[in-house]
Amino acid sequence: MKFFIDTANLDQIREAQDLGILDGVTTNPSLMAKEGIQGEQNILGHYVTICNIVTGDVSAEVISTDFEGMIREGEKLAGLHPRIVVKVPVTREGIKAIRHFSGLNIRTNCTLIFSVGQALLAAKAGATYVSPFIGRLDDISVDGVGLVRQIVEMYQYYQFDTQVIGASIRHSMHILQCAEAGADVVTCPLQSILGLLDHPLTTAGLQKFLSDYKKLNG
Ligand code: G3P
Repeated sequence: MKFFIDTANLDQIREAQDLGILDGVTTNPSLMAKEGIQGEQNILGHYVTICNIVTGDVSAEVISTDFEGMIREGEKLAGLHPRIVVKVPVTREGIKAIRHFSGLNIRTNCTLIFSVGQALLAAKAGATYVSPFIGRLDDISVDGVGLVRQIVEMYQYYQFDTQVIGASIRHSMHILQCAEAGADVVTCPLQSILGLLDHPLTTAGLQKFLSDYKKLNG
């Protein structure tokens, strides 16, 4: 399973990259706004900066809602760096845009996926990735990880190449559940990744090893 970090924060991206386990970055307009990145040139520049920090794919989302706008924006984003993946919402216009990008070998991440039907159309249009939003479904009492599992099974059944990203991850348990469900990728906040390391027996065990060592070696 690949690990992406879901942020536009450069410090967190560097920290995750330093861990040596990072496979990519996903952003969205809300995450860019959270970092105060505004104006087209600054936004494009920020994506290039991220690409220069990490070695994996970097999802950059279009903000246009019409086909022509998505195409114009997506082609510009894709031209920024070979590892940019154009993130497109799963709307009518978005599906048409994904088909267009697929014909140009521009990779896409189809976002805001909340149903198997949406994931089916995205895969048929040639999406590289789909992003089902786990946390937001859980928030309305729908099983988010269950959706990931259904999409993974459906893609296996029809042998689609589209990769499933478990997105809208809220905690470390979501990551483990995505691994069980067979997600190809999880995109997570840094804290959820680091949370996988926490275990009281590891902390206590390490303390004991170090204190035993110090008893004899000072
Ligand atoms: O990047 C898309 C997704 O991961 C957003 O997550 O926490 O805003 O629901 P969240």
